[in-house]
Amino acid sequence: MSTQQTATILITGATGNIGTELTKILSAQGIPFKAMVRSVEQAKDLAALPGATLVKGDFNDEASLDDALQGVEKAFLLTNSSELAEEQQLRFVAAAKKAGIKHIVKLSQWAADVNSPVRFLRYHAVVEAAIRTSGIAYTFLRPNLFMQGFLGFAGAISLRNKFFAAAGDAAISLIDIRDIAAVAAAALTQSGHENKIYDLTGPEVLTHQQLAAVFSKILDRKILFIDVPEEAMKEALLGVGFPVWQADGLLEDYAHYRLNEASAVTPDVKVVTGKEPRRFEQFVEDYAPLFS
Ligand SMILES: NC(=O)c1ccc[n+]([C@@H]2O[C@H](COP(=O)([O-])OP(=O)(O)OC[C@H]3O[C@@H](n4cnc5c(N)ncnc54)[C@H](OP(=O)(O)O)[C@@H]3O)[C@@H](O)[C@H]2O)c1
Repeated sequence: MSTQQTATILITGATGNIGTELTKILSAQGIPFKAMVRSVEQAKDLAALPGATLVKGDFNDEASLDDALQGVEKAFLLTNSSELAEEQQLRFVAAAKKAGIKHIVKLSQWAADVNSPVRFLRYHAVVEAAIRTSGIAYTFLRPNLFMQGFLGFAGAISLRNKFFAAAGDAAISLIDIRDIAAVAAAALTQSGHENKIYDLTGPEVLTHQQLAAVFSKILDRKILFIDVPEEAMKEALLGVGFPVWQADGLLEDYAHYRLNEASAVTPDVKVVTGKEPRRFEQFVEDYAPLFS
């Protein structure tokens, strides 16, 4: 396995959930990288990481992508999920093709499929297809539900000892984002990951009732999961500021989970990183102060 020694890696989404973990891993491994950010001033923690060079870039601004991609060989592509995500990512792929980028590691989603009833899975599949068509080598990371998504319930769990979702008895092989970041780091810095698709899951399949039992055990108090109808979940999402497009997409995600379409466990994290993915117990232990 060869290791990259010069700053020819570009990380997008570098200030987000996965990007923060990924840039920490690269920095700790002594691998120089460029991080594309919208605001250099607001990314002080990132700028302070050894090996980080910040470049200004916005997925909505083609010229800024051309600038950010100069001298880059490999790129990690991640946007937040929004109505704009598909066009933003397609713009990035076109700019990457123009810049002669050799390899894109794209953060996609479990079960990405152009014919999926889930809008997120459709847009990820459209972008995957564009990368394949571009001829640029690819690695598609298709993670299942993020454990860190439960940090969104930290307030409800700490104050009311409850969390809510339209999850029913869905069994989900959810994954810790630190394991996704470790796979991304390997794909960006080692050879042998070109033109591969990794389906990324945790090591176990859990229903939301079982997640509540883990919370109860680790936090040492009773935490309840309340199964709610879709309408109630949508109202709650809109109430905390989610745009309608995003709230509807999350309901589609949960309908897909209730069909147990996200319940398989894969070996891919261990195959790529050599380490077992983290269990949900580990996630709750590591983030316990936020739930207390
Ligand atoms: N949540 C889940 O369970 C789940 C499961 C599977 C896949 N996914 C996928 O994971 C992805 C989200 O990952 P995440 O949680 O790490 O993302 P995130 O925390 O929302 O981070 C989004 C990043 O994108 C940057 N960004 C936003 N708009 C931008 C723009 N116009 N130009 C340049 N950068 C921009 C943000 O930078 P700023 O600091 O400038 O805002 C931030 O760094 C989505 O594609 C989603 O479909 C999610």
